[in-house]
Order: sequence, then C-alpha cells, then structure tokens
Amino acid sequence: MTFSKISNVLEGKIKDKVSLRGWVYRKRDQKALVFIMLRDSSGVIQLACKGIPEAEVASIESSIEIEGVVKEDKRAPGGYEIQVSKIKIIGLAERFPIAKDQSEEFLREQRHLWLRGKRMTSLMKIRAEVFKAFRQFHYDRGYIEFHSPIFTPSGAEGGSTLFEVKYKDKEGIFLTQTWQLYAEAAIFGLEKIFTIAPTFRAEKSRTRRHLSEFWMAEMEAAWMDHEELMSFEEELIIYIIDHIIKTCKTELEYLERDVKELTKVKKPFLRMSYSEALKTLGKKKGYDLTDKDERELLDKVGKGPIFLTQFPRDMKAFYMKVDPKDSKTVKASDLLMPGMGEIIGGSERISDPKELEESLKIFKLKKEDYGWYMDLRKYGTVPHSGFGLGVERLVVWLAGIDHVMDAIAFPRTMDRVYP
Ligand code: 4AD
Ligand code: MG
Repeated sequence: MTFSKISNVLEGKIKDKVSLRGWVYRKRDQKALVFIMLRDSSGVIQLACKGIPEAEVASIESSIEIEGVVKEDKRAPGGYEIQVSKIKIIGLAERFPIAKDQSEEFLREQRHLWLRGKRMTSLMKIRAEVFKAFRQFHYDRGYIEFHSPIFTPSGAEGGSTLFEVKYKDKEGIFLTQTWQLYAEAAIFGLEKIFTIAPTFRAEKSRTRRHLSEFWMAEMEAAWMDHEELMSFEEELIIYIIDHIIKTCKTELEYLERDVKELTKVKKPFLRMSYSEALKTLGKKKGYDLTDKDERELLDKVGKGPIFLTQFPRDMKAFYMKVDPKDSKTVKASDLLMPGMGEIIGGSERISDPKELEESLKIFKLKKEDYGWYMDLRKYGTVPHSGFGLGVERLVVWLAGIDHVMDAIAFPRTMDRVYP
C-alpha cells in the first residue's frame, strides 16, 4: 500500500480514496461517530470514523494506518475530512503522560515524548533551516566546510569552562570549546572555511542562554580584517532572517512570533565601544557586563542589533589582535540581538608571532601547550578573522522563545543530562 502525506490532502491534491498513517493527536466521541485528529510530520487532519471499533480503542498517541475517502468539509479544521473505512492499530499507546498546562520542568523531563508535540517540532524545523541557511550563505561565497576534533589538548576560551575527560592515561584532555584554533591552521590551504559543530562549556551560570553542550556555527577567513568580519556577520544575519521568514511561516505563526521584530532588522547594525556601553549603563570602567546588562543596553539604545566593540583586552581571549590605535583594547566584537544579548563572538586574530608570544604570557598560558598554534605564525602568517555563532541563541531570538533549552532537542546543562 502507498501512503499519502496529510499535507497532500490538505492542499487538495487527493480527491478520492486515500491511505494515511500517523498518530492519534486528539479524539472526540459522539455517540456512533468518533472524530480522530490524525497527525503526521506534515500536518493534522480530521478523521470521521463511523462504526469502526478500532477508532474507539485507539488512544491518544497510538500509531495507526487508515483507509478512507477525502471529503471537502468547511466545518473541518483545514477544510478537509476523511471518511474512514478501515483502521489498523500499529502501536497502541498507554495513557500519554503529557497533557495541557504542565510545568516546563516536567516537559523537559519528558522531552523524549514532548519532542513530537507541535511546539518542539516547530522549533526543530526552524533550527534545521538555520543550519541550512548558514551553510548556503557560506557556499554561495566560496567557503568550504572544515571539521576539527572534539578532544583537544588545550583550551581557547578560558580554563574555567573546560570539560576534562578521562582519556586513557593522558591528562589535560578536554572537550572542545571552539573549532577556531584548528580552523586557523586550515585557512593556510583553504582560505575561507566554516563549520557547525557541538561545543562544550562547563558553565557555572544558570541562565536562559547557557548550555553545557551547544552547537556553534563558526567561520574563519584569511585576509579578512575586523571591519570586513562585521559586515559579513550583518549580511549573514539578514540572510538567515529572510530564509526563516520564507521557509518557516507556519512555525513562526504557531509560536506566535511577531514577524515584524524580524523584518525590521536592517543593516548596518549599530557599532558601540565597550566603554560607551558602560557609560550608557552608568557603570564604572572595568565592569564586566552581565546578560541582564546587555539586554538593558539593547532596550536603552533601542536601535536593533548592536556590535559591541573595542573590548578591554583582559576581558577577552588570548588570540585577539590588539588594536594598534588603542593597545588596551582588542579588535573583537560581540553581536547583541534585541531581547537576547550576545549571539556572536568574533575577532581579528593575532597574526604576528611576537605579539602572540607576549599574549600567551599575559594570559598566563604555557607556550608548550600552544606549540603548533605558534607555528602558524612562523610559516607565511596572514591577517585573518572569524567568529562563532551560538545556534541555540539565534533560534531563541528568531522564534521569540524564552530559553535555549527549548532550541535543542535534548538539552545539556550543568543540572540536566536526562533524557
Ligand atoms: O564568544 P565565544 O566564546 O567565542 C568563541 O568561542 C570564538 N572562539 C568563536 C570564534 O571566533 N570562532 O562563543 C561564540 C558564541 C557566543 O556568542 C554564544 O552565542 C555561543 O557561542 N555560546 C553559547 N551558547 C550556549 N551556551 C553556552 N554556554 C555558550 N557559550 C557560548
Ligand atoms: Mg563571547
């Protein structure tokens, strides 16, 4: 038997007999008539089942196969209904634990079942389209996908968030915090590269934007300076927004995302120095902005996304190029999205061997641990830049939801590794 997708029926492509398979989404008994809302990955349709005993047996979330005839019916949700002649129960469901109005904590505990619900599937579709758009944007510009290892012998983004792993009898092996250092090796051959990969941070902060395992979309390019990097990021964000609006209309509608918030994002984004940001927020020099501060800044300025630039060197990573015009700051920028805060961290990298050696000293990192990375500056060094985008954070912003835990199927935080 060949089975049709529900969307084909709802689009009026099937006029007469049809076979469908899916899951019982909702059910309503009316004397001799049972109405089942059947769902598959493409949609939901009403089944009218008259005198069919299996219709009464099939519980919520049971998987079934049905045969019937398509009828146009204005009263039915979606305008079509199936008059069912036969139902075969494939997997009878026990009483489904998820009902209306359950706590977010409960739903996260039941994520393996909640994942089939409309909210999670909408978010997973948006997420998948972000991957697609990120890749396409880079392909269109001649970038090559490049992969780095997950086990790494040294950190790049500060020791406090490193996850150490048992690696036979070796010590000091960690899960990767970023693809970047390896990407910097690859640009000498490939020049323009990108990746989307799992990334690990033992984050102490319990916020709505921190996961311990997340996906970072990163790029690195030879011959690119910090200004060019920011323009590239702007273009990418606009491209992804356009793509999501085009491909995820029903998902955004379901999530009640105000699409105007997305369409009003225009280039160029505001550039603001870190010291200006501190001034705007009434904070003293040397103060480290929190998540909350970032959102307050975005609200206060109210002009869409902001590139925070000219960070004090000691707040950022060892590999960032010092600004020759102001040696206390580095050529780095965070991109902040309204209501969300930082979604991208990017910078021009140190390309001079002496400057890198000095920087390792300043950051109290062992030269021996970065031997191969130092080599990259010895054999035909070039100016280069790159960034990392937190995929879950971007999904949160695009979908207008509250927490990164809902932007990934099985979230990992310091408190959660189940299911
Ligand atoms: O700003 P970060 O730490 O930058 C880097 O790791 C660079 N090496 C990237 C590069 O230049 N190739 O991280 C980049 C982005 C952040 O802006 C944020 O969106 C996301 O990764 N991110 C997290 N997302 C979820 N949970 C966490 N714990 C995250 N930490 C960073
Ligand atoms: Mg950052």
